[in-house]
Amino acid sequence: MTTDTQAPPQLPPCAHKPKPYTGPSREQVLADRKRFCSPALLTYYADPLMIVEGHMQYLFDETGRRYLDCFAGIVTVSAGHCHPRILERASEQLRTLQHTTTIYLHPAITEFAKKLATKFPPGLDVTYFVNSGSDANDLAITMARLFTGNHDVIALRNGYHGGSPSAMGLTSHHTWKFPTHVSAGIHHAMNPDPYRSPFSGTPEEIATKAAADIEEVIKFSTPGRIAAYIAEPIQGVGGTTMPHASYFAKAYEVARRYGGLCIADEVQTGFGRTGDHYWGFQNFGVVPDIVTMAKGIGNGAPLAAVTTRAEIAQKLAQRIHFNTFGGNPVSMAQGLAVLEAIDEDGLQENSKRVGNRILAGLRKMQERHRLIGDVRGKGLMLGIELVRDRGTKEPANKETAELVERARALGVLLGKGGLYGNVIRLKPPMCMTEADADFLLDVLDRSLTAMEA
Ligand SMILES: Cc1ncc(COP(=O)(O)O)c(C=O)c1O
Repeated sequence: MTTDTQAPPQLPPCAHKPKPYTGPSREQVLADRKRFCSPALLTYYADPLMIVEGHMQYLFDETGRRYLDCFAGIVTVSAGHCHPRILERASEQLRTLQHTTTIYLHPAITEFAKKLATKFPPGLDVTYFVNSGSDANDLAITMARLFTGNHDVIALRNGYHGGSPSAMGLTSHHTWKFPTHVSAGIHHAMNPDPYRSPFSGTPEEIATKAAADIEEVIKFSTPGRIAAYIAEPIQGVGGTTMPHASYFAKAYEVARRYGGLCIADEVQTGFGRTGDHYWGFQNFGVVPDIVTMAKGIGNGAPLAAVTTRAEIAQKLAQRIHFNTFGGNPVSMAQGLAVLEAIDEDGLQENSKRVGNRILAGLRKMQERHRLIGDVRGKGLMLGIELVRDRGTKEPANKETAELVERARALGVLLGKGGLYGNVIRLKPPMCMTEADADFLLDVLDRSLTAMEA
C-alpha cells in the first residue's frame, strides 16, 4: 500500500519535448472564453486546465507540464495524439486538396469505405460518412425507419447517443437531455447494468429480465412494430456499464421479432478498444444491422460513419440525401491512416494487454479501498464506480470529483460519468504502455489512500 507522504509518482519517461508556448495566458483564455463563448461549454476541474500540445498518450499544458491522458478516447483520439504517420497522411492530403463534396469521385472515400468493410462481419459493407456521432445516429434511425416502414425506436435507459434533437431523444441520461420534446416515438427499456439494476438476480438473470423488458415496452408503448433497437455495447457516458455476455443475443431476438433493425452505437467501443474484438458488439456474439461510429474512427478528425447492409443503405437513395463535409478527402485520408495505424501498431492487442493489467490492478485495489464499489469494462474502456457504502451503493459523487482533481495534481487526466457522476471513466489513447498503466494505478492508489485517511 502507498501513502500520501511518499515521493510523488513519476510519469514514465518521454523523449518528446513540447514547443515553448507563446500564446495568450491561461487567465486571458479563460476570461475570453467566459465572455465570448457559449456558457454551455463546460470545463473540467475547479481550476480549468489549458492543454496546448499532445504527443501520443500524453498532453502538455502551457507551462510544458506533461499529463497521462486517460480520457482521450472519449474526446476522440484512438491511436495517440498527433500520431506521426496519421499526421503525415492528413497533412499531405490537406496540401493536395482539402475539400470536394461527394458529387465528384475521389479515391480516398472509396479506399476508406472498402477497408472499413474488411473489419466487419460479411454483409456489413456499405458506409455513409458524416461528421459526428450524433449525425451518425440520426442517419441510422432514419434508415431504419425507411427500411422497416415503422417509426418507433427502443433505446436504453442511461444511454447516450448525442446532442442533436433526435440523438438527444435517444439519450436517456438526464444530465444530457433537455426537455425539448425530441422523444416522439422513442421508448427507453431497462438498462442491463448488473451493478445498479432494479432487477434482482445474477448478471445473467438481469440480462434476461432486461431483454424481456424490451418486449414489455414494445407491447405497451408502441403500435406493436418497431423500426429499431439501438444500444451501446458498453455504455460510455452512462459510466462504462456492461451487461452480461448473453444480453444482446436476447435483446436482438426480441427487437427483430417485432420488426426492428438492431443498431450498435460503436462511437466509444469500436476500433479494437475493447481488446478481445475489433467491435464492441463482437464481445456479445451478435451481428447488428447498422453500426454507427465516431470519435476514435478519426483520431481527432470530425469524422463519423454509418455502416450497414446494401439493401438498407439503398433506401436512402430514394431521395437526395447530402452531407457537405461527410466524406471529404482530408477526413477520409485521416480515417484510412487511423485504420492502418491501429493494425500496424498492434493497438487492439495493446488495449487488451494494458487493459487487463489495469483491470487486475483495480480489482486488487478494490480489496483495500472501501470507496471502490465496482470495477468493470473491457480492454481500454474501464470504469471504477465509487460508493460511500458497498451495501446501500450510495453514490460517492463528491469523492469522485475529488479523485479526479487529485489525479490531475499527480499528472493523470481522468474522466467522470455515470447517472450519479460517481464513475471514474478510463479511456486512454490505445497506445498507452504498461509503464503508464502502473503509473496510473499508483496515482489512483495514493489518491484513494489519502482520501480514505
Ligand atoms: C456512445 C455515443 N454515441 C454518440 C455520441 C455523440 O457523438 P458526437 O459528440 O460526435 O455527436 C457520443 C458522444 O459522446 C457517444 O459517446
